[in-house]
Amino acid sequence: MPAFMSEFFTQFISLLQANLNVLDLGAGSGRQAIAIAQRGCKVWAVDKNPAKVQHKLITWQTLPIETWLQKPSSTRYDAVLMNNIVQFFSKGWVTGVLIPELAKRTTDRCLFGIRTFFKLPEPAFENSTVLSYWTAQELLSLFPGWKCLHQNQQSAAAADMTGRERLFHNSSIIVQQQ
Ligand SMILES: C[S@@+](CC[C@H](N)C(=O)[O-])C[C@H]1O[C@@H](n2cnc3c(N)ncnc32)[C@H](O)[C@@H]1O
Repeated sequence: MPAFMSEFFTQFISLLQANLNVLDLGAGSGRQAIAIAQRGCKVWAVDKNPAKVQHKLITWQTLPIETWLQKPSSTRYDAVLMNNIVQFFSKGWVTGVLIPELAKRTTDRCLFGIRTFFKLPEPAFENSTVLSYWTAQELLSLFPGWKCLHQNQQSAAAADMTGRERLFHNSSIIVQQQ
């Protein structure tokens, strides 16, 4: 199983049925987007860097999430994935802008899956642009009244994108609007 198929992502993808509209914010290379598309969902993948994978069910938008949020959208998303992205924003912006704006673009029983870090990896990244760390409890507090389907916080050694071994401190939640 590829390393990105974390317990979190395995559970998130198992909750998706074909034909759902899934938003993948900070989609990166598209490794999760392609797995979601292969389940038969339409994926709306946003990243400030150019797309790497292509699939007929994936629509890429190459722009910063902050800019994307300002564009009107008629699509209502059934599920939102944020895998290793919220740490690049401040807590105030995530709480006050990102989540409220996304809530306007989602369906009534929308799923949100968020995976991030609750503290610096060890050793820390050399040129880190990380603005915030989140415990699983802090992530859950972004969704008061939503049903929690997954909550995890754990530390594990793993190779980073360059192959360097680090101790990562991951937090993750999956919630559904009620
Ligand atoms: C750590 S990677 C995670 C990629 C993917 N979600 C995954 O788990 O494989 C973070 C991604 O967020 C993107 N990113 C960072 N800040 C962004 C922003 N403000 N707007 C859009 N994309 C951003 C980067 O280009 C990068 O592809």
